[in-house]
Amino acid sequence: MPDLSGKHGLIVGVANKRSISWAIAQAAAAAGARLALTYPSERLEENVRELAAKLENPLVAPCDVASDEQITELGATLDREFGGLDFFVHGAAFAPAAELSSPFVQTSREGFRIALDVSAYSLIALARGALPLMEKKGGGSIVTLTYLGSQRVFQNYNVMGVAKAALESTVRYLAADLGPKNIRVNAISAGPIKTLAASGVSGFSSILQVYRDRAPLRRTVDTSEVADAALFLLSDAGRAVTAEVLMVDGGYHATGM
Ligand SMILES: NC(=O)c1ccc[n+]([C@@H]2O[C@H](COP(=O)([O-])OP(=O)(O)OC[C@H]3O[C@@H](n4cnc5c(N)ncnc54)[C@H](O)[C@@H]3O)[C@@H](O)[C@H]2O)c1
Repeated sequence: MPDLSGKHGLIVGVANKRSISWAIAQAAAAAGARLALTYPSERLEENVRELAAKLENPLVAPCDVASDEQITELGATLDREFGGLDFFVHGAAFAPAAELSSPFVQTSREGFRIALDVSAYSLIALARGALPLMEKKGGGSIVTLTYLGSQRVFQNYNVMGVAKAALESTVRYLAADLGPKNIRVNAISAGPIKTLAASGVSGFSSILQVYRDRAPLRRTVDTSEVADAALFLLSDAGRAVTAEVLMVDGGYHATGM
């Protein structure tokens, strides 16, 4: 098992116990890391605090990733409490509900803006905030979460597919920019999992069944499997891997007919 003892990490994107980010937080904590968890709004604060209480000595802070002020404040809090940062997990994504159930051609300008801002631009803003903290540690590892809908069409995934394409490209540009500072940037492309975000995609259950029928492993994946892959990328085990999109989807991405 990868060792993260003595490391400090930030996990953005825990909403409830089904969140992929929560599975990653649990795995990273079990590997010895001390963690900060964030909540985007007061509505989710209690959920996040309840889950964080299961970790040892957690830090809990607000962070709406669409707010530059909150990202700056989060950076100051992490600097004060952790004195630097070794890794962060970006598991935030959002698109207005109407965009995930209407024909793609009906995508609104505002829906597009929000989806790309929260789901893709936020990785750049958070990486910029993390940069001085990671420099203090001599480098770091950043992992975000994406989906195959960036490359292929899945019904109703719509503007979120466009946002994931932007996110994956952002991973490569950030990796090139931050690599000389020994900061690695990677994405995990997870197979479909029933979470809060996934339930916003109309007809999501039928996507799950396609994976059970056709993925080489003939099953879907669970959050602990995504977390194990994340641990590889966050730890020294992945020290030569950057600018990568690691598929954790039972092999579905390779299927044709
Ligand atoms: N569930 C899947 O099938 C699947 C597959 C591949 C990739 N992903 C990606 O994994 C990531 C995590 O999603 P999940 O499936 O665990 O669902 P989730 O709903 O548990 O997590 C999404 C998170 O985004 C957060 N978020 C939304 N708007 C935010 C904002 N403005 N500021 C800060 N946080 C905000 C939510 O609070 C939530 O914690 C997302 O990027 C999602 O696209 C999910």
